Amino acid sequence: MERMISPSVLAADFGHLERDVKMVEQSEAAWIHVDVMDGVFVPNISFGFPVLRAIRKVAAKPLDVHLMITEPERYIARFAHDGADWITFHLEATDDALHCIHLIRESGAKVGISIKPKTPVESLRPIIREVDMVLIMSVEPGFGGQKFIPESLDRIRELRLMAEELNPDLLIEVDGGISSENARLLYEAGANVLVAGSSVFKAEDPAAEIHAMLHA
Ligand code: DX5
Ligand code: ZN
Repeated sequence: MERMISPSVLAADFGHLERDVKMVEQSEAAWIHVDVMDGVFVPNISFGFPVLRAIRKVAAKPLDVHLMITEPERYIARFAHDGADWITFHLEATDDALHCIHLIRESGAKVGISIKPKTPVESLRPIIREVDMVLIMSVEPGFGGQKFIPESLDRIRELRLMAEELNPDLLIEVDGGISSENARLLYEAGANVLVAGSSVFKAEDPAAEIHAMLHA
């Protein structure tokens, strides 16, 4: 199964954003993960459009934008316009997931939907055919540097089974507490894309950590 790494710039040094993005560009990472937080859907605020545009200017790799914002439908078109290749919104953040999916499609970006650790995987069944990717949160969204929740492994397996039945091309992305220590278990459970913030950017050799995760 396809394996990819998407380093999260949330853990980058924002005083040296260009340097850190270039490091990812030169590494084996497939994508660049961009965490947008609004202080309402999650108890933290990260950054928005100007930072996304700054990353877009230096990055050639696909930008994997993770919207941790309430009513994502209000801003999807702008995130696409400012450079998102993938737009992932939270099932819990909207009353109309199908409308969000439609807006992302219309914008030309690829569609991701995410669920928090306590949201049942089954709640994805009605819309799983409509999306390109599901992002399973393996920590409560809002902060980098948290501990991986081990029950996430069973949730990945459950989702992989559902995908085999309903959407065989589905990509499964996992986000939170991931490093070369647990990467292999995640891929074996059925994940395709691993997001990693602290483990990459706090590593002495980030490119080596990315390599280790990819080939775990
Ligand atoms: C958390 C974000 C993550 C975060 C992961 O809400 O969605 O993408 O950057 O950070 P680590 O890898 O440090 O757990
Ligand atoms: Zn994220």
